[in-house]
Amino acid sequence: MNIRSTKAKGAALTLAAIALTACTDSGKGGISPQDLTDMLHLVMESDRAVYTKQVVNRLAKDEQVIKASEHFMDEKALPLPAQMFRFGAETVAGKTDKFSYSLQSLWPINKQNAPRTDLEKTGLKFVVDNPGQNFYGEETLGDVKYFTAVYADVAVAPVCASCHNEHKDTPRKDFKIGDVMGGVVIRVPMGS
Ligand code: HEC
Repeated sequence: MNIRSTKAKGAALTLAAIALTACTDSGKGGISPQDLTDMLHLVMESDRAVYTKQVVNRLAKDEQVIKASEHFMDEKALPLPAQMFRFGAETVAGKTDKFSYSLQSLWPINKQNAPRTDLEKTGLKFVVDNPGQNFYGEETLGDVKYFTAVYADVAVAPVCASCHNEHKDTPRKDFKIGDVMGGVVIRVPMGS
């Protein structure tokens, strides 16, 4: 990891830390769980867009010096944006239980990205049925109550739809540009 990416990660974690501190400070003008997940989502969405634009599209499409591939290890290629996103989520999960996140879909290429809880399923369906809206809810898992938010993940480019439609593991082959293909799920424990 170079200095620049360490800095960027540090900034993202600092934002999360500030947000979490503010969150526990409720009643004194602190931020709500919804503001917190909205802020986290903004960082995630921005990082993913920047990786897609500045790394994948620039080097794989414009300059054609390296390709992006699901099998990036074997092919010495760049990981796909969705894989980068999952690696980040897995790294966070190994470091904190103050929040967790994942990129999921009702029609996942990678079965690991399928919803697991009833609220995740409800939220993913909601963002498909209500374009432009986020989903917010609460769920109890084990003994812990969580605030769970779902943000739509939209096929912003034709290649989103075509790559998924043609993938051997996809359960759905009729995605088109503008469709909601899945969603980012962010979960925060609400405390007692
Ligand atoms: C080159 C092929 C390719 C392109 C282009 C692509 N994806 Fe994916 N996408 C994948 C693969 C492969 C996975 C599974 C990654 C993993 O292992 O978690 C995935 C995962 C996902 C997931 C999680 C659910 C699932 O299917 O596993 C969503 C949601 C998603 N992509 C949306 C998008 C969107 C939106 C775009 C365009 C901005 C896009 N994808 C572009 C190949 C692609």
